[in-house]
Amino acid sequence: MLQRLVRHSTRTQTHSPMPAGRSRRYGHVLLAAGVLALLAACDGGKPQMESVDGAAHGVSSLNGTTGAKPMKIALSSPDSRADPAGQPHGQSRAEVYAQVRRMTVLGKQMFFDPSLSGSGKMSCATCHNPNRAFTPANALDVQIGGTDMRRPGMRAVPTLKYLQAVPPFAEHYHDSDDEGDESVDAGPTGGLTWDGRVDRGADQARIPLLSSFEMASTPRKVADAVRAAPYADAFREVFGEHVFDDENVTFKAVLKSLETFEQSPEVFYPYTSKYDAYLAGKATLTRAEMHGLQLFNDEKKGNCASCHISQRAKDGSPPQFSDFGLIAVGVPRNRALAVNRDPRFFDLGACGPERTDLGGRAEFCGLFRTPTLRNVALKKTFFHNGIYHSLEDVMRFYARRDTNPEEFYPVVRGKVRKFDDLPRQYWANLNTDAPFDRQPGDAPVFSDAEIKDVIAFLGTLTDGWQPLAH
Ligand code: HEC
Ligand code: HEC
Repeated sequence: MLQRLVRHSTRTQTHSPMPAGRSRRYGHVLLAAGVLALLAACDGGKPQMESVDGAAHGVSSLNGTTGAKPMKIALSSPDSRADPAGQPHGQSRAEVYAQVRRMTVLGKQMFFDPSLSGSGKMSCATCHNPNRAFTPANALDVQIGGTDMRRPGMRAVPTLKYLQAVPPFAEHYHDSDDEGDESVDAGPTGGLTWDGRVDRGADQARIPLLSSFEMASTPRKVADAVRAAPYADAFREVFGEHVFDDENVTFKAVLKSLETFEQSPEVFYPYTSKYDAYLAGKATLTRAEMHGLQLFNDEKKGNCASCHISQRAKDGSPPQFSDFGLIAVGVPRNRALAVNRDPRFFDLGACGPERTDLGGRAEFCGLFRTPTLRNVALKKTFFHNGIYHSLEDVMRFYARRDTNPEEFYPVVRGKVRKFDDLPRQYWANLNTDAPFDRQPGDAPVFSDAEIKDVIAFLGTLTDGWQPLAH
């Protein structure tokens, strides 16, 4: 488990001078500004925020591109065109951006359209509610879907915000932000979903649309729904008059539109939290928030920032509150999940069963991608299996997992069955750095008062903060 150790001994929160090269991971954040300027030139000085979306999207890591050549990639990659319908190439910049803008509008309409689902009742927004940072409005462990709207899922719904920064999945991730040293192996990192099994938003969107326990649709049904939708004409205008001739072409265009919508900066990565204002010197944290931040960063206490990065990257881009590493933290088994009624079933994250390419690779078992903590206070369900429903419970888990394991895992005949959701042969994969470095008899990582302060700090990560008028 060398890579795991390396990740944590090197993820420090020290600031060092900016490296010459730009971090691959955060490149897109700067791109958005560049695109904005470009659009201002293209579109007669009044860029619409929505155009930035898709445009930034075309160059982001969700496309699997990692280079730092913004405009080139955005404008010359065939991916930036509405290729599903074979749109003629050779468009001007303004045309490309107008196209992206229209695709964003379409993607948004589809995101909220239940007619794409097999039941006719479920849209992306059913599970990804915009008022809750695109997580569910209810507090169920997992959501219920399917053609009859009665089939439970197996994982909690993650936020869709700040995904633009997720790098494509890599077994060995090298990032210049690690002490400015790209030779450091940060271990398995990136990819979308809890196990990092897809890299692009379009490939991801295919999963819920076709999943038997989510939207339970088919490319044919989706194509029929779009043809009958109020936005069918707009869809034809963007993707060409033949887009409805072949259901697979239609389906691909739908996926691309959804992916484009998900890259709208003002919706999905606005960086408008109190903490962002604090980093910019425009807000003061309360005493509790400040104390919580210190506990969060303290390598001997929470050590949270070693995975949930809290400081600006060396290129100055804002922290994502995740390094997007895949990590095993030993979350207790959620016995309320339907899949877990089978005692032989284990959701092992990166080594399967949802993800299939790393099956049989024992070193990936139990690993789930570190989620961003931005907007975490808006969530009602936490961890990949949805076992907890309050930040207090999550904090208690971090603070007391090792000092008081009986509070989290089943006790059978007086013995605690620790890590009951990970078969013993994979325990070597569990992270052992602070806060996971204690044992029974030690003091918990946080007292109850400290837990309150950490939660107060997490509350500063919610977007849409308005300075109080004085
Ligand atoms: C029934 C609830 C449900 C619906 C409907 C749903 N999702 Fe999700 N979404 C989930 C769950 C659960 C996950 C995590 C899946 C996993 O880890 O395997 C997820 C993950 C994602 C992710 C990856 C997030 C990350 O952190 O990497 C994206 C992007 C996404 N969904 C977009 C969509 C889009 C677009 C739609 C509509 C086409 C949609 N979802 C419909 C439940 C849902
Ligand atoms: C070693 C890396 C690591 C450290 C250190 C760490 N986390 Fe996490 N965090 C994760 C991973 C991985 C998950 C997802 C685990 C899962 O669901 O299996 C997670 C999940 C969470 C969640 C739930 C988010 C959600 O959307 O479900 C919260 C809240 C959280 N961490 C806060 C903290 C705090 C506070 C600390 C410090 C006390 C901390 N983390 C330390 C890696 C880490």
